[in-house]
Amino acid sequence: MNTKTNVLNNLAPSVKKADKALDMAAIFWFLVALMGQWLFVYYIIVHFGGAAIKGDTESWNDSTISGHVPGDTIGNIVFAMHIFMAAVITFGGTLQLIPQLRKRALNLHRWNGRIFIFTAYIMAIGGLYLVWVRGATLSLNGAWAITLNAAAILIFASLAIRTARAGNITAHRKWALRLYLMVNGVWFFRIGFMAWIMINQGPVGSTENLDGPFDLFWSYANFLLPLAVLELYFYTQNRTGTKGKYAMAGILFLLTLLMGLGIVAAFLFMWKPYL
Ligand code: HEM
Repeated sequence: MNTKTNVLNNLAPSVKKADKALDMAAIFWFLVALMGQWLFVYYIIVHFGGAAIKGDTESWNDSTISGHVPGDTIGNIVFAMHIFMAAVITFGGTLQLIPQLRKRALNLHRWNGRIFIFTAYIMAIGGLYLVWVRGATLSLNGAWAITLNAAAILIFASLAIRTARAGNITAHRKWALRLYLMVNGVWFFRIGFMAWIMINQGPVGSTENLDGPFDLFWSYANFLLPLAVLELYFYTQNRTGTKGKYAMAGILFLLTLLMGLGIVAAFLFMWKPYL
C-alpha cells in the first residue's frame, strides 16, 4: 500500500463524520423549513381560501395592499390565481426535497416537478403584473427587488428543466435547489423580517412603507442571502476538508435556529391573527 492510500484510509473516518455533520445540519434545516412552509400554506388556505368560499373576498384586503379591488376583474383574477398557486408551489416544493419520495416515487417527483416549474413561471409573471400594472407595492425599491426575484425564478426554472431533460442530474439538482430558494423568497422575506423584529424587539431600520435601511437591505437579501448560503453549501460539500464541513454545518445550524425564531414569530404575529 503506498503512502497516498495510507493517508486516504486514515482520513476517511473523519471525512465521513464531517459529511455526516453537514448532512444532519441540512436535514435539520429542511425539517424546520418544512414546518414553516406548511404553516404558510395553512395560512393561505384558511385566510384567503376560507374567505373566497364564504364569498367574502373583501377580507383579502385585511392582510394585503390590494387583494380585492372592486371593478378590477383581471387584477382580482390574477391575485386569486397567485394565491391559489402560492399554496400549490409552497407545498409541492417541500415534497420535491424529500429524498425517499424521489427514490420510491420517481413519477410523482417528475410530475410534481413539472407542476412546480409551470407554477413558478405563472407566479413570477402574474406577480410582475400585480407589481407593475396593479401597483401592489409599497416602495419602488421593493418593486425592483421582487422584479429581480421574478427574473431569477424565470431563469432558474428554465435551467432546472433544461438540465433535467438533458439527463444531467448533478446540474439539475443544483438548479432545482436554487429555484426552490428563489420561489421561497417571499417566504424568507416574512420569516427574516419577523426574526429581525424579535431580535431587536421592534422594527429597527424599518418603516411602514418598507423603505427603511433594513427594508432596503432585506428586500434583496431575502432571496440573495439564502442563495449565497446554498452556494457555500455546494462548495463545502464538494471541495473543502473536514474543518470547512464542520464550519458549514455550524453556520447552517445557527441559521436554522434564526429561521425557526422567524417562523414562530411570523406564525404568531403575521398569520395567526387571520386564522
Ligand atoms: C413564487 C413564489 C411566490 C409565492 C409563494 C407568493 C406568495 C404570495 C402570497 C401568499 C401573497 C398574499 C400576501 C400575504 O398575505 O402574504 C402574495 C401577494 C403578492 N405577490 Fe406573491 N408570491 C410569490 C412570488 C411572487 C413574485 C415573483 C412576485 C413579483 C414579481 C410577487 C408579487 C406579489 C404581489 C404584488 C402581491 C400582492 C401584494 C398585496 O397586494 O399586498 N409574488 N404572494
